[in-house]
Amino acid sequence: MKNTLIAPSVLAADFGNLQRDLEMINTSEADWFHIDIMDGVFVPNISYGMPVLETIQKHAKKTIDVHLMIIDPDRYIKTFASLGANVLSVHYEACTHLHRTLQAIKAESMKAGVALNPHTSVTLLEDIINDIDVVCVMSVNPGFGGQSFIESTYKKVRQLKEIISRNKATTLIEVDGGVTNKNARQLAEAGADVLVAGSYVFKAENQLETIADLKKITAI
Ligand code: DX5
Ligand code: ZN
Repeated sequence: MKNTLIAPSVLAADFGNLQRDLEMINTSEADWFHIDIMDGVFVPNISYGMPVLETIQKHAKKTIDVHLMIIDPDRYIKTFASLGANVLSVHYEACTHLHRTLQAIKAESMKAGVALNPHTSVTLLEDIINDIDVVCVMSVNPGFGGQSFIESTYKKVRQLKEIISRNKATTLIEVDGGVTNKNARQLAEAGADVLVAGSYVFKAENQLETIADLKKITAI
């Protein structure tokens, strides 16, 4: 059976009760902490930065998955390594020398991820797939939580899965944005290995149960 990983997005947490929400993720069946870093330039929003990540690092007992929505991410690779990132994803659209950036991430002992905007074709990764640990397929336009899922993502995930298999790569497929119990199973069936869920988890009355339910419906 396939164990689909669930990564709650801390962007949707209650920052007045951040420690409580981080402990909820620790206690839950979730696998990763998803951390969205936005610079107000690459995306039209600013999220949170280093001081908040220090708090997250202090309390998080699971993999820390950092999604950089920033221009020129090479500037901050060492900083995020020191802040406890286990997976560091940069945007394809923000990197001129993606191969070099991925090597720099790995040199800091992190897993190297590449995130793709909805308009960016997975076929652009054909020549670099064996160097990527995680592809983060954006199923909304990056910048905000709580947006609706873009349906063409299923096709993109299937295409990417095919590229990974054909190249005998071990790359994980992560899907980020608008994930709910309505699309999670179909995403797992299409080939997704990691599902990010922000508002769906944090707006739920019973967050632990919501995460457990996502685990259950994606175990295929
Ligand atoms: C969007 C972020 C997502 C976001 C997901 O720019 O990359 O990780 O937090 O939030 P939901 O699940 O609410 O779409
Ligand atoms: Zn994200």
